[in-house]
Amino acid sequence: MKDVYIFGIESSCDETSCSIVKNGKEEIATVISSQIDIHKNYGGVVPEIASRQHVKNITMVIDECLEKANMKMEEMDAIAVTYGPGLVGSLLIGVEAAKTLAYIYKKPLIPVHHISGHIYANNLVEELKFPLIALIISGGHTELVYMKDHYSFEKLGGTLDDAIGECYDKVARVIDVPYPGGPTIDKWAVEGENTYKLPMPLNDNSYNFSFSGIKSAVINLVHNEEQRGNEIRKKDLAASFQNTVIEIIAKKTIKALEDKNVKNLVLAGGVAANKGIRNRLREECEKRDIHYTFPEIKYCTDNAAMIAASGYYAYKLGRTSDLTLNCKSSDTLK
Ligand code: KG4
Ligand code: ZN
Repeated sequence: MKDVYIFGIESSCDETSCSIVKNGKEEIATVISSQIDIHKNYGGVVPEIASRQHVKNITMVIDECLEKANMKMEEMDAIAVTYGPGLVGSLLIGVEAAKTLAYIYKKPLIPVHHISGHIYANNLVEELKFPLIALIISGGHTELVYMKDHYSFEKLGGTLDDAIGECYDKVARVIDVPYPGGPTIDKWAVEGENTYKLPMPLNDNSYNFSFSGIKSAVINLVHNEEQRGNEIRKKDLAASFQNTVIEIIAKKTIKALEDKNVKNLVLAGGVAANKGIRNRLREECEKRDIHYTFPEIKYCTDNAAMIAASGYYAYKLGRTSDLTLNCKSSDTLK
């Protein structure tokens, strides 16, 4: 069978990235230009700045990716691009670049949903096995999705308010950890002890999540302790927060696997890099003989390799678009 090369582009938030992936699973070259150092100064991503940076970066990142792979655009079978969800000004740069390349080089254009990309980051580790449950935990999403097959997405539940990554970053911010604070909280959680009592987030029988309560509880706790002149034991607070969050994530994920009688779990999104969450899910899966796949740490956060991997299956299914493709700030996974 002829090899299929997909050129992927991702620009939904603050990473400009391009990647070439062969047959949906073999990464040939990936370039990621991160803007974190710029947005750090503002404590979060500033959409206008992100968009302007994408404009500056995109052609360089495209060229660098081809150079790294030692390939030409002519050799690509299709151009896959994140069309949403994300920041419109950011998405637009990637989508326009992809449309231009598709037009000039006469290649099929493949729109990829950002969350589908995160799920298919696992395909770069090993081919997805169906049916599966995907737990998507990122800066913008917290979702449990059931997949019977490629591109068959059934959302079981999601966050009713804050995304988990957003919650990690807010908790980090209140204890003076620079953006994005998730990785530091994760590190401190191992070093600290679970001594602060925090409320358990939405502990019901649904597959939904709610993290705004625990976020507010942490913020209030820090302010109250400061007012009393007490020092915050930051590592203990990180451990208390992370342990509480893991409890609910593990419970709902296992419930989804058991209710649906599914034996495969994949983890996706930036927060999938979290060691505490990985360890707990690994343990729970091993106990129940559930096969699990976790994405490589470098492909947990936004990157174009996952978009190209997802794009390969979309290409196989004929899910192409014409040049009227527009980006969408929000869209259901389908
Ligand atoms: O997937 P991503 O790049 O952005 C979205 O598509 O939303 O995820 C970024 C998020 C940030 O909130 C960051 O703090 C979080 O992932 N993150 C972590 C860890 N590494 C990244 N959160 C907890 N523990 C980590 N180790
Ligand atoms: Zn993402």
